[in-house]
Amino acid sequence: MRTSLELSIIFGFPRYATSQKNVQHPAAAEYTNASHVCYEKSSIVKNSAWDLSQYNALSFWDFCSLQFHEAIVSAKHPFHIATVSTIASNGDPRSRSVVLRHFDSNTHEIAFHTDIRSPKLKDLRNCRTACLHWYDPALRVQIRLIASATAHHQDSRAEQAWHASRTTSRACYGTPSPPGTTMTQFPAAPTIPDLDDHSGYAHFVVVVCHFEELDVLALHASGHQRVLLSLKHDKVSWSIIAP
Ligand SMILES: Cc1cc2nc3c(=O)[nH]c(=O)nc-3n(C[C@H](O)[C@H](O)[C@H](O)COP(=O)(O)O)c2cc1C
Repeated sequence: MRTSLELSIIFGFPRYATSQKNVQHPAAAEYTNASHVCYEKSSIVKNSAWDLSQYNALSFWDFCSLQFHEAIVSAKHPFHIATVSTIASNGDPRSRSVVLRHFDSNTHEIAFHTDIRSPKLKDLRNCRTACLHWYDPALRVQIRLIASATAHHQDSRAEQAWHASRTTSRACYGTPSPPGTTMTQFPAAPTIPDLDDHSGYAHFVVVVCHFEELDVLALHASGHQRVLLSLKHDKVSWSIIAP
């Protein structure tokens, strides 16, 4: 018999319930149809767009490209925000969220914008290899890629992106304190600059990530599907790998 305290922990605070012996983790419940009071039961995964058996390597790359194009234009797209990981000079890995700004399926490039003063750029100067990662819990799809990152600062690419950016986005680059600076209080929101105010441009950087391989994992109740999609040598191929 469980004590009332144990039961209140299990049902009231499901995040802690897994520390209880013989209590199933809520995430596992979705696979087995076991119910949990605070987590919605989801039926067997019907993730037909990401049923990789429908595709060959080329058609799957076309599909992924379409997703990335849509992720650039729509903030509602599940892949609009990527997690980018870099390696600091002391060897520590660091991850953070960034907004996708540009995708080119021909050159295999994906880009985000950042501040030249940010620690992530120091990391990329130390090691230009970055890892980009997405997971959509609704689709149950994970994408991971390793990229070689190039920072564009005050060149034609940065200039073009700056002119295409919104003043609300430009506001972040005009702040006097570099990202990561210790402060005595939370700063007020930066003032939105006028369209002809380019003072933030000095800090604005486009980070272009060139990749040649995508690791895609689609979770399905009927069997997970994982592929390594290779874009090397201008030829699209894939290998099915164990999930
Ligand atoms: C949803 C979201 C989107 C973000 N997008 C960006 C972005 O596009 N560029 C950026 O430099 N930081 C972005 N940030 C902030 C970074 O995640 C990070 O906190 C900041 O850039 C400092 O990173 P660093 O110290 O690793 O350089 C975003 C944060 C969130 C939560």
